[in-house]
Amino acid sequence: MLFHRIEEVREEVKKWRKKGMTVGLVPTMGALHNGHLSLIKKAKATCDKVVVSDFVNPIQFGPSEDFDKYPRTLDADMELCNSEGVDIVFAPSANEMYGGKCNSDNCKDNTLKELPRLSNDTLTYVCPPFFYVNTLCGKSRTGHFDGVCTVVLKLFNIVQPDYAFFGQKDAQQVIIIKKMVKDLNVPIQIIQCPIVREESGLALSSRNKYLTEQGKKDALVLSKILNNIKSCYEKGITDADALKETAYEFLTDKHDMEYIEIVDKDTLENKTKADDNSIALIACRVEKVRLIDNIYLK
Ligand code: PAJ
Repeated sequence: MLFHRIEEVREEVKKWRKKGMTVGLVPTMGALHNGHLSLIKKAKATCDKVVVSDFVNPIQFGPSEDFDKYPRTLDADMELCNSEGVDIVFAPSANEMYGGKCNSDNCKDNTLKELPRLSNDTLTYVCPPFFYVNTLCGKSRTGHFDGVCTVVLKLFNIVQPDYAFFGQKDAQQVIIIKKMVKDLNVPIQIIQCPIVREESGLALSSRNKYLTEQGKKDALVLSKILNNIKSCYEKGITDADALKETAYEFLTDKHDMEYIEIVDKDTLENKTKADDNSIALIACRVEKVRLIDNIYLK
């Protein structure tokens, strides 16, 4: 079932609840690929009913980011969801989600041009702790995680699922969402699913669609760097700077590195010495496309 309205979702979920069924939510921005499908399959295996949200959330994109050109493929997404037995695809308009409450150009007609939010914005936002949202991807994406948490909490309140499914692909995102759920006593269990990759090692992403064939080859450097860091760690190197240095062996002028970091997998705190709780994360532009990837060292 495809729903565009919040009330339609609520009514359907209410019927399931009366029957005592469990509900899973898979939040997405559409342009579904096998990474998203792995979350949907896990949700189907865990819950009686599954809702997939398909919404390119304007308030998580910065002014110079790719909101306008982000791939929108609702028909294909519907086909995939139907073939996986998804019960509801929820694809609201920006107006349905935000009404007139974002006062920049943003939510008028699915376009947000301003981040961080404007002072005359009348939307209530969820703002995770400064450190969590201003490190790693947050350094270059001001306001991004406020926008993510705001839409995710809204989706949680609309669907009221028992379980919600997120990918490790966006490691900082899932850590921040777990933190929000804990701090705000949200009664939903967060299930984290592993990264799905192409056979080549490239992590699947809706943004891979922007890459040429050559770009996809150049993008393999991200997973190569991460795998190499992990194998160096396994060989006994724990000094984080030394591990990060190894990245530069792989980089060419095709790569515009934004960060390579080794942090705690739960708190995002920087490690000087890597340990079994560490995660290595990378953000790098290839053909101007911003790609991210990560790996647990254990
Ligand atoms: P989107 O980029 O569409 O991703 C939706 C979910 O799919 C996220 O939890 C993401 O981590 C997961 N995912 C993407 N690529 C994956 C891969 N290769 N392997 C495993 N999981 C993968 O993340 C968002 O949307 C948005 O920020 C959202 C949470 C929906 C809020 O708008």
